[in-house]
Amino acid sequence: MGPIGVFDSGYGGLTILKEIVRLLPQYDYLYLGDNARAPYGTRSFDRVYEFTLQAVKYLFAQGCPLVILACNTASAKALRTIQQRDLPTLAPDRRVLGVIRPTAEKAGDISRTGHVGIVGTPGTIASQSYDIEIAKLHPGFSTYGQPCPMWCPIVESGEIGTPGADYFVRRDIERLLAQSPEIDSIILGCTHYPLLYQSIREATPANISIVSQGPIVADSLRDYLRRHPEIDSRLTRGGSIRYLTTDTPDKFDPLASLFMERPVASLHAEL
Ligand code: DGL
Repeated sequence: MGPIGVFDSGYGGLTILKEIVRLLPQYDYLYLGDNARAPYGTRSFDRVYEFTLQAVKYLFAQGCPLVILACNTASAKALRTIQQRDLPTLAPDRRVLGVIRPTAEKAGDISRTGHVGIVGTPGTIASQSYDIEIAKLHPGFSTYGQPCPMWCPIVESGEIGTPGADYFVRRDIERLLAQSPEIDSIILGCTHYPLLYQSIREATPANISIVSQGPIVADSLRDYLRRHPEIDSRLTRGGSIRYLTTDTPDKFDPLASLFMERPVASLHAEL
């Protein structure tokens, strides 16, 4: 028995956690942000896999029967290997889920034209995970990926809303939309990006919708737990949220409290 583990390279996973807690407040949650090593988006496949596996092992050691990789970069680069190669020997009775598949499943509801833009870290976009998943689930759809290497560092360094931040947001949205005039929706394919929502909205024509993953992932988790009572029955229900950061709590807590819209008092974790 234990809490649901939620992992991200830094603050971004809080945008997922917040929506999951809103929908499923009865469970206990343990959030882990690897802020000391964020961003992951420009790191190699091997590094992201190594760091993510460390985090998953850590959350398992804290008793989590289920871990959500609330990070697209980790989902793109590490999830499959962890599910297929590591879990069978490491913890065959535990589960690790990602955020790309549930988001790709919703592409049909998101777009009318079938032309979907995806903004993400260089790692997520280069992996083509969204293109592959959406092509499988929605044949005939066209996807357009735009790497946004500066967006995650902007969030991690607390520069949201500054003129410098807005410059990079506008530049990358323009680059994305230059790929096709038919794009009618943009998936925020990095969990940090909802924190930049206001700047993104201002840089995007009003007729183009902007889709955050939080509510989608929360819905999909609720559905998963209904279908998997063997996992659901092992989750403790105390309505608590605990936070861990690999950086220092005094740095993590103020920004995390802002994002969660509730007081956050984290503890330091050494992976
Ligand atoms: N929030 C993460 C994602 O969804 C990671 C971003 C990063 O660390 O570069 O991709």
